Amino acid sequence: MNVRLPPLPYELDSLEPHLSRRTLAQHHGTHHRGYVDSVRRLIENTRREYAPLEVVVRESAAAGERQLFGVAAQAWNHKFYWSSMDPAGGGEASGSLAPLIESSFGTQSAFQHQFVAAALESEGSGWVWLVAEGERLRIVTTPTEDTALVLAGTPLLTVEISEHAYQGDYQSRRADYVSTFLTHLVNWKFANRNLEKGRFRARRAPMLWGTPVPAQSRQPAVRSAESVRSAESRQPAVRSGSPELALHSH
Ligand SMILES: [Fe+2]
Repeated sequence: MNVRLPPLPYELDSLEPHLSRRTLAQHHGTHHRGYVDSVRRLIENTRREYAPLEVVVRESAAAGERQLFGVAAQAWNHKFYWSSMDPAGGGEASGSLAPLIESSFGTQSAFQHQFVAAALESEGSGWVWLVAEGERLRIVTTPTEDTALVLAGTPLLTVEISEHAYQGDYQSRRADYVSTFLTHLVNWKFANRNLEKGRFRARRAPMLWGTPVPAQSRQPAVRSAESVRSAESRQPAVRSGSPELALHSH
């Protein structure tokens, strides 16, 4: 079976003090492992028994197999989340992403504020994503058992905003957690690699790789610079520069 719990790409304590060893141990060893185990049970002795996890996610989404899709999406999202962080990460986007951040959001600071605002506006558990659609970047949120992998575009990075991801270290301070993710943890090298992979796939086989899976029952929340501006005009509490969204710096 190809689907198995991948090791973390760093030591359990290497994201401290921003995410504790205890949080990572529980999150990876209990939550992530639970989803992987569920996928393995559901695909055992089926034609997908030896399929890669990404294929299981895409096929179960296309076939409307909600139970399998839910756990497979969670298993895939968690691996993507671990890779979206790095002990030496954080700060402004670099490489090819830097000019795209500026053309899509205005400035790096505006991107950071909009990313945190998306995390705060999203109710309950779930994920905040940075996604590339062509040369345009968007911030997308999905509920917990869903994934940007099956939406249009290429996922570049994600942060989980479910309570188990941060409550042990930040209690209910989700904004502090997501701000810290951006200033100290986010892995721009990983995001840049995903951007390049997306460009390569678009060039090489647009009919194979560029066809989005049919929309599911619910539309994801998508943030572009325009939608954020209009949202901010309705909700002054999330204006850029408001104290609640001040980025963490230690
Ligand atoms: Fe999780």
